[in-house]
Amino acid sequence: MSVRPRRTLLYVPGDDWRKLQKAATLEVDCVCLDMEDGVALNRKQAARESIPRALETLQFRAFERLVRINAIGSGWEEEDLRAALQMLPDGIVVPKVEEKEQLDWIDKKLHQEETQRGLSPGSLRLWIGIETPRAILNLKTLAAHPRLEALIFGSEDLAAALGATRTPQGWEIFYARSAVVMAAAAFGLQAIDMVSVELYDTERIRAESLFGAQMGYSGKQIIHPNQIAPVREAFTPSPEAVAQAQRILEAYEAHLEQGKGAFALDGKMIDLPLVKAARNTLARAGKAPQG
Ligand code: COA
Ligand code: MG
Repeated sequence: MSVRPRRTLLYVPGDDWRKLQKAATLEVDCVCLDMEDGVALNRKQAARESIPRALETLQFRAFERLVRINAIGSGWEEEDLRAALQMLPDGIVVPKVEEKEQLDWIDKKLHQEETQRGLSPGSLRLWIGIETPRAILNLKTLAAHPRLEALIFGSEDLAAALGATRTPQGWEIFYARSAVVMAAAAFGLQAIDMVSVELYDTERIRAESLFGAQMGYSGKQIIHPNQIAPVREAFTPSPEAVAQAQRILEAYEAHLEQGKGAFALDGKMIDLPLVKAARNTLARAGKAPQG
């Protein structure tokens, strides 16, 4: 992972000025100012007005500011995108993408904007929500698009479309959750795990986040300030894990010099795949991979 991992991506309803102000003070990696499902049908215009104002006047602590427009084909996308780009966010999130043509549409729009503003091509980043059965079937085509930065897995929309009943274990959405992280890895993208709808049950949030991190997700979508700490923790390797990764890399170097690619450490076999995993751990911890 060469770029900074996005561990926490906080949605803020784009029409709610109090929450926008609050969001600016929160320590998350990314804020996503929302025009889609976090905003009521009769408040879409309010969101189009307050989001540019927020981008212009609030100092966000997040290192990346994204705007989520309504789905392409909703009829709102043109006007949403115009408002979203007014004050130049770092990227655009498009929900419920299903077809390559939708990616081509947004790519062209972003390209036009870059040309008009004299920005370098590709500097406006694109994130997409994978949250429908058709998107899962088309993952290979979608994830290959060169403009993409990250895939976002939407479990609730998917479950609704499947007619599935959500359970705490999540086996009903596991195939899709796994397919998204797989496609992201295949095309060098980051994968952002599903939202937990738990607002106050920290243990549940922690367990769900840890499982996503173990699957290979870079981070998780967040909808409430209470979720920030447990999610950030779950996606940040512990000091013990970092120390162990460093130990593995040092031992690997030493064995390589003796001409050995596989060796034993603490009663376990270490070879190249485990070395790669150790490098991933250091990258996730924000430490330069060594060895
Ligand atoms: N962004 C910024 N601030 C938020 C927030 C968010 N997503 N969610 C809650 N807060 C703020 C509240 O405004 C409140 O601050 P205040 O006391 O200064 O007013 C504080 O955090 C505590 O919130 P709480 O009272 O526990 O929750 P709530 O009833 O105000 O809001 C939700 C609950 C679910 C409505 C709210 O968290 C929310 O709108 N989340 C985003 C939903 C969304 O975007 N969905 C679409 C994407 S899946
Ligand atoms: Mg959704």
